[in-house]
Amino acid sequence: MSPPRWHIGHTSWFFETVLQKYQEGYQTYSDEFLFFFNSYYEGFGPRIERPKRGTRSRPTVRETRRYREHIDEQMSRFIERVAQRDDADTILRIVRLGLEHEMQHQELLVYDIKHLLCDQFDAPIAPAPRAVETVTGMAEVEGGLFELGYSSGMGVSPMNHAQDAHATSNYEFAFDNEKPAHRVFLEDFLIDRAPVSNGDYLEFINAGGYQDFRWWHSAGWERVNQDQWQAPLYWEQRDGEWMIRDFAGLHRAADKHNEPVSHVSFLEASAFAKWAGKRLPTEAEWEKAACGAPEPNSKQTFPWGDDAPDTSRGNLFESGLWSVAPIGAFPEGKSTYGCQQMIGDVWEWTTSDYAPYPGFKSEFDEYNDKWFVGQKVLRGGSFATPRRHIRSTYRNFFYPHERWMVGGFRCAKDA
Ligand SMILES: [Fe+2]
Repeated sequence: MSPPRWHIGHTSWFFETVLQKYQEGYQTYSDEFLFFFNSYYEGFGPRIERPKRGTRSRPTVRETRRYREHIDEQMSRFIERVAQRDDADTILRIVRLGLEHEMQHQELLVYDIKHLLCDQFDAPIAPAPRAVETVTGMAEVEGGLFELGYSSGMGVSPMNHAQDAHATSNYEFAFDNEKPAHRVFLEDFLIDRAPVSNGDYLEFINAGGYQDFRWWHSAGWERVNQDQWQAPLYWEQRDGEWMIRDFAGLHRAADKHNEPVSHVSFLEASAFAKWAGKRLPTEAEWEKAACGAPEPNSKQTFPWGDDAPDTSRGNLFESGLWSVAPIGAFPEGKSTYGCQQMIGDVWEWTTSDYAPYPGFKSEFDEYNDKWFVGQKVLRGGSFATPRRHIRSTYRNFFYPHERWMVGGFRCAKDA
């Protein structure tokens, strides 16, 4: 974990590197801060090792906030004058990346607060919506050629953001790893209409899923034994009953049976799928199930169409739940194929390796391309993802054993 103040300083550090590069005569705030707040960028000089971030008491929270205020002020002044420069486009693209980077860290901050403080942190939790529909079974999706990835023009028009004055051309941005859009061939397949629930997962646990090597990849079985996995992260047993801990305290898993399971690794998701006689979807299958439009061979930005996400369509950070919502709470967010909660609630594991798409061109050194090995792709965003940050083509990635992020899944099957 990183201490919360580290995220606050690191996201400002990112902007300080912009100032260092483009603001003439810019004076570095502090060499020590540069060292502490660099995450992994070799190109920006030496940095503190990640596991040691939490061992430093300096810079303090107050010093970090002062640093942040300083950088914000410098950036505001810098941006005001940027339009007159010849390299304005280049700079604005990096500034936009800085904002997206900051939204990524906002989400990581939620994970870290949950891990470090969990129910000691007094989160401003909004009331959860109720399930208004029962969502069961699998959707049939026809195969054929599918255009995977982001292409400009599939963006939401600024018109759809009438209530949000700052949202102009919100969806003109996509990370380099989502591009270019390219054709892939899919066989017909089936995919769950809902994410796998705590209730479903509890059945797997009660059926001895964690004690039976037959369901597990070798790497998964090793983890089960080595780390004594018996349930997802944040599940604990009280008097023989499984409980789930979250920002609101400790709950009986049985009372949360209709909510998407979260904090499971790829290894656990795969084991569940095998036990259930299914498999995880590829990212192309997931994207087709999410974005397939009613007209053949066309694609929409979100499962429900091209409008931006809102409270009625999915559970993203601005909904303020600080947790997953019941399955069936967002019928308005369903896809053409009737899949629900694909955007928000939990990032969904896919079987796809996080690798460059054919024709990939890196747009920023060390941002995405240096992670193209050994990780799996997750799709759709979680309750901790800022609303303006998510797209259906968004490729998140984590190592197969990781559980600290809000990761869940839905299963697929060959038709
Ligand atoms: Fe970062």
